[in-house]
Amino acid sequence: MSVTTIAVIGGTGPQGRGLAYRLARAGHSIVLGSRDASRASAAAVELGHELEIGSVELRRVAGNVTGASNLDAAASAPVVLLAVPYDGHTELVSSLAAALAGKIVISCVNPLGFDKQGPFGLDVPAGSAAEEAASLAGGATVVGAFHHLSAPLLLDQDADLSHEDVLVCGDDREAKELVMGLAADVTGGRGVDAGRLRLARQLEPLTAVLISVNKRYKTRSGVSITGLTQASHERVPA
Ligand SMILES: NC(=O)c1ccc[n+]([C@@H]2O[C@H](COP(=O)([O-])OP(=O)(O)OC[C@H]3O[C@@H](n4cnc5c(N)ncnc54)[C@H](OP(=O)(O)O)[C@@H]3O)[C@@H](O)[C@H]2O)c1
Repeated sequence: MSVTTIAVIGGTGPQGRGLAYRLARAGHSIVLGSRDASRASAAAVELGHELEIGSVELRRVAGNVTGASNLDAAASAPVVLLAVPYDGHTELVSSLAAALAGKIVISCVNPLGFDKQGPFGLDVPAGSAAEEAASLAGGATVVGAFHHLSAPLLLDQDADLSHEDVLVCGDDREAKELVMGLAADVTGGRGVDAGRLRLARQLEPLTAVLISVNKRYKTRSGVSITGLTQASHERVPA
């Protein structure tokens, strides 16, 4: 796919930085966003260093990484990734709604709670964080993806993620195609069309199960879907 510019809202956190690192490695230009532009700039410099210590080939293809306020980042890119905690999501997305109009907005936000029994999916009034973003930023095309990739693995330059499937949900076929291409750029594997945006209600809390598995097996689990051959991956529109 062609390279693009991607703004990462909450790009100073591990998940935003991890996805930004992998996307920059694939040649995309990245604008890390933060509530504090100077924090975003510092994170961008750090990520730039990490890209520089890669191979000569990596340095040749890697995209540019810069930092800005969340608002300036969102305004500067056609594709915007929301990588913020669910706590504060409503206020943040509302504040960015005008800047998100006309853009493809990817949400990897997992509304999770933790108590003595471990992680669990929170009840979200809109159904899911992705649907909440779609309702608050009415002019944006929201796609859910990257919920199940672990930040430490994304940031590990030696970790092979090509066996991990990225489940992508959304109501706009073209936007989903673009995000599935970005998923392949991130993992070296594939993005899988998981269906309509409302299925984010199932994808987001599934992360609680993965965290629970991680704890029991001392691993970093992910998702891999069986039954998809190369041919069936060229899927029927639904
Ligand atoms: N960590 C993972 O392995 C992982 C995996 C899959 C999905 N996710 C999802 O990805 C999202 C980000 O995860 P993370 O671990 O990177 O989260 P995080 O470190 O808690 O937060 C990411 C960034 O969001 C900003 N932020 C924090 N609280 C905020 C608030 N109330 N309002 C606006 N911005 C706020 C902070 O940046 P500034 O202070 O610079 O603004 C922070 O660096 C979450 O929804 C998580 O469920 C995470």
